[in-house]
Amino acid sequence: MEQRIGLLGCGTVGGGVIELMRRRKQRLQSLTGWEPVIARVLVRDVLKERTVSFAEDVLTDDPDTVLGDESIRIIIETIGGIEPARTFILAAIARGKHVITANKDLIALCGEEILAAADAAGVTVLYEAAVGGAIPLIRPLQESLTANAISDLKGIVNGTTNYILSQMTETGADFSDVLQEAQDLGYAESDPSSDVDGLDAARKLTILASIAFYTRVSLSDVEVTGIRKITARDIAYAHELGAVIKLLAVGTERDGALTLHVRPTLIPKSHPLAHVSGSYNALFVRGDAAGDLMFFGRGAGALPRP
Ligand SMILES: NC(=O)c1ccc[n+]([C@@H]2O[C@H](COP(=O)([O-])OP(=O)(O)OC[C@H]3O[C@@H](n4cnc5c(N)ncnc54)[C@H](OP(=O)(O)O)[C@@H]3O)[C@@H](O)[C@H]2O)c1
Repeated sequence: MEQRIGLLGCGTVGGGVIELMRRRKQRLQSLTGWEPVIARVLVRDVLKERTVSFAEDVLTDDPDTVLGDESIRIIIETIGGIEPARTFILAAIARGKHVITANKDLIALCGEEILAAADAAGVTVLYEAAVGGAIPLIRPLQESLTANAISDLKGIVNGTTNYILSQMTETGADFSDVLQEAQDLGYAESDPSSDVDGLDAARKLTILASIAFYTRVSLSDVEVTGIRKITARDIAYAHELGAVIKLLAVGTERDGALTLHVRPTLIPKSHPLAHVSGSYNALFVRGDAAGDLMFFGRGAGALPRP
């Protein structure tokens, strides 16, 4: 029997989802008993050239064709941003569809509203890819580590700033030159402020901290400092001290008090987080039962290319 899926967006992530579902179709079918079928794909421009091909009438620019299709029970949202993604997801939930989203901005800002709507409708919203790309973080924090009281989260969760700081460390170049190079290579947006000013990392921290510390954290709870003021000289001083500078997203609970910040931080070269370079992400977690754990992997992109 078919499990018909509606995909919203077919860019880097959406294209990767389609490729992976095609590659793993047999396995998904034997695990679930359902044949997964991407029945409809919503995009902005149906004429745009794409890396994946579709049967006729799958691609559409009309949201109602996807959200109003009663035979579709699962929606995967990979559009990004707040609107129209929020409206589409709430409409899908209201129609009794389960939702999977990679949208960190939306979950950070409207997660409470979306999860409450899903609870009321009796459907599931999954958002594993919203933080740390392919690294499993949400489910381990939500499920595998529930017996732990977590006291510390320390994450490198923004690939752009990690790439810039890694390049500055390797080449001795200054922030503005490395940023320009990252923009030329497509690793940084033309407006890089969300990344370099630490907001993207702060949004991801609110998602992780809300789960790890069993509370509802909002962006205003996080003290944020970006990396614009880091100079080649700072990097050189760090080196002399046997350390590197990383943009860390940190959540700490001590005696019931939670502190949250994102800021450039000196990390001793002996610490595992010091070796997380380039576009890689990592999350260090300390739990009272599990002790120290570190999750590490690629934080961006579709599938790894040879
Ligand atoms: N890229 C990553 O490495 C990564 C990693 C983890 C999570 N994420 C998250 O995944 C989401 C998608 O990121 P992405 O990099 O895949 O973005 P992207 O490459 O820009 O793709 C966005 C897709 O959404 C479609 N779209 C945009 N606005 C639309 C609208 N109003 N109506 C219908 N379709 C619309 C676009 O259509 P057209 O193709 O026609 O323009 C495109 O196919 C974001 O929430 C992002 O934060 C990304």
